[in-house]
Amino acid sequence: MEMIKFFNVAKVYEGNNLAIDNATLSIEKGDFCFVTGPSGAGKSTFLKLILRQELPTKGQILVLGRNLSKLPMAQIPDFRRNIGFVFQDFKLLNRKTIYENVAIVLQILGTSFREQRLHVFEILRKVGLQHKLKSFPPMLSGGEQQRVAIARALINKPAILLADEPTGNLDPDLSLEIMEIFKSINRQGTTAVIATHDKELIRLIGGRIICLDRGQIVDDYTIVGGKK
Ligand SMILES: Nc1ncnc2c1ncn2[C@@H]1O[C@H](COP(=O)(O)OP(=O)(O)OP(=O)(O)O)[C@@H](O)[C@H]1O
Ligand SMILES: [Mg+2]
Repeated sequence: MEMIKFFNVAKVYEGNNLAIDNATLSIEKGDFCFVTGPSGAGKSTFLKLILRQELPTKGQILVLGRNLSKLPMAQIPDFRRNIGFVFQDFKLLNRKTIYENVAIVLQILGTSFREQRLHVFEILRKVGLQHKLKSFPPMLSGGEQQRVAIARALINKPAILLADEPTGNLDPDLSLEIMEIFKSINRQGTTAVIATHDKELIRLIGGRIICLDRGQIVDDYTIVGGKK
């Protein structure tokens, strides 16, 4: 089943900046994709287009059966409910505890308190932060804050996970653990699209690799993960 489809997509930012150049591809349910390429290649833009944070200048994007150019503003929040995302500028609520920062997603969805507790404890344990649930974000290290953002993105088992350099602030061991969490969520049916520079991590984890260069998809292949 197709989850994401790009037809001849171009994204030109103000100032004639061509960030995505004539991209066509499809991502199927259950795919585990890395988006790689040099700085400025268009990786973040690619993710923002899927999230409907940016609109394409040309071409069509279908996500979960919706044509994003035709999605009414009023339907964007509902659309995004199916997507977990971890972006570089993740924003945590500094006056709320770690527990509350994660639980808020379920609260918005109307989940019962009992279920909220269950799921929040489970996901915080997965990202190794169960001992921090009463802390506030400013008391946490950069990597810990990043893991809270990851927990928040995964808590409602989204159909699609988008992550932009999710392991940018983490040490190699922790990066690997986070990727393993993404993999386990992926095995439960979530389609994952992860932008990263980390070639070593990609090699260890394996998956589909979409390479961008100056906005063009220059390579698209799959590797099996493996230890050195
Ligand atoms: N809001 C914007 N306005 C104008 N140009 C932009 C904007 N956002 C990105 N660009 C340009 O689009 C191109 C692609 O940017 P993008 O952020 O998608 O690259 P990236 O691959 O994520 O890079 P990095 O690895 O450094 O995060 C770059 O040339 C960038 O300068
Ligand atoms: Mg980027």
